[in-house]
Amino acid sequence: MSSHFQTSLVEIDPLVARALKNERARQQDQIELIASETIVSRAVLDALGHEITNKTLEGYPGNRFHAGGHYVDIIEQAAIDRAKELFGCDYVNVPPPSGSQANLAVFFLLLAPGDKVLSLDLASGGHLSHGLKANLSGRWFDAHHYGVNPQSEVIDYGEVERLAAEIKPRLLIAGGSAYPREIDFERMGTIAKKTGALFHVDMAHIAGLVAAGVHPSPFPHADIVTCTTTKTLRGPRGGLILCNRQDWMKRLQSAVFPGVQGSIHTQVIAAKAVCLGEALNDEFKTYAAQVKTNAAVLARGLNRRGIRIVSGGTDTHIVLLDLSSKGLTGKRVEAILEQANITSNKNAIPNDSPRPPEWVGLRLGTAAATTRAMKEVEFELLSQIIADLVDAEAAGNSAAQVETSAAQVAELCDRFPVSRS
Ligand SMILES: Cc1ncc(COP(=O)(O)O)c(C=O)c1O
Repeated sequence: MSSHFQTSLVEIDPLVARALKNERARQQDQIELIASETIVSRAVLDALGHEITNKTLEGYPGNRFHAGGHYVDIIEQAAIDRAKELFGCDYVNVPPPSGSQANLAVFFLLLAPGDKVLSLDLASGGHLSHGLKANLSGRWFDAHHYGVNPQSEVIDYGEVERLAAEIKPRLLIAGGSAYPREIDFERMGTIAKKTGALFHVDMAHIAGLVAAGVHPSPFPHADIVTCTTTKTLRGPRGGLILCNRQDWMKRLQSAVFPGVQGSIHTQVIAAKAVCLGEALNDEFKTYAAQVKTNAAVLARGLNRRGIRIVSGGTDTHIVLLDLSSKGLTGKRVEAILEQANITSNKNAIPNDSPRPPEWVGLRLGTAAATTRAMKEVEFELLSQIIADLVDAEAAGNSAAQVETSAAQVAELCDRFPVSRS
């Protein structure tokens, strides 16, 4: 028998095998607080590592450009049906391999080059695929942005309405990657209607919260919705497009394929079907509710220790810190937390420096650690560990504190294993 089918990864590629083993250990030994991450189930991993990856297919279930797609069709149809049920919409497109690619397909569907879009600016928590100059969305389209109210740091809907009336965008976009508060989708939908814009919600971060009913749904207010299956939805890396517009369905299919992509990532479609099935269960609703509760506990704990929380709190899994009053940058705090085995990321906050090394924001998220079954008590402890590290770093003597905090983190990681055996 050919060794091609038999030889294990360890034998054939020790370098990759070792890095994978170390990455698994890292995930066990560190507490993941990066808001776009979570920990997928054994079932999702099984689907991702399956031989289905060998199958090449273009098109959609029942209408393929290659033979042999029967089983993939069953899986893709299940993903579509489950997402429809989960989000209460009529049409779902599952092939986009990422959130950015899903957004690109929406732009391709609804806009012509040079058309105007209006979206949340990056420093207020927006996403680069919503019109950043360095991204195709900002290079080929005429992107304008709304921000947040400088005092409340929440979206100023009056200002959005004023800008929409002035700019007259073809597409109004809501959603972002570092906006911790609920977005009033109804209000945004009304502004879009009033000003003749189409309304796109990118719910990448909050899709799991919406699926579980612990965050308002963009339906029926949005014309089109995109999301990732990563983050709070607790699935593989990938995107989804959802809508209720019967008249767009054929064109949307074509916008994805052949518009912006070729063959589908069959193994990811299978993993998407699995995570969407998991999200229909009651256990998922409990997890999503706990994600929110844990974020509120984390924000309160940090605030009590004198760390300012952008917008004063959170309605989601995201907690955004302003470290300026401690005289620290996000970069420094990200590094000191990592030394104590807590992973996070520096982030711009409203009115921050344009230079990432000078950003004073740090973004935290609770989905991954909540998946490890950490609850209020553990998140209260985490808030104290983080505050201890911030204070020590601000005082310029963090070495001893890193040691103490790393021991506390190690104890938490032991008690809440990422166990897959
Ligand atoms: C709001 C939003 N949209 C889109 C994306 C892009 O997703 P991906 O990284 O899969 O392209 C992200 C990722 O963080 C996001 O936060």
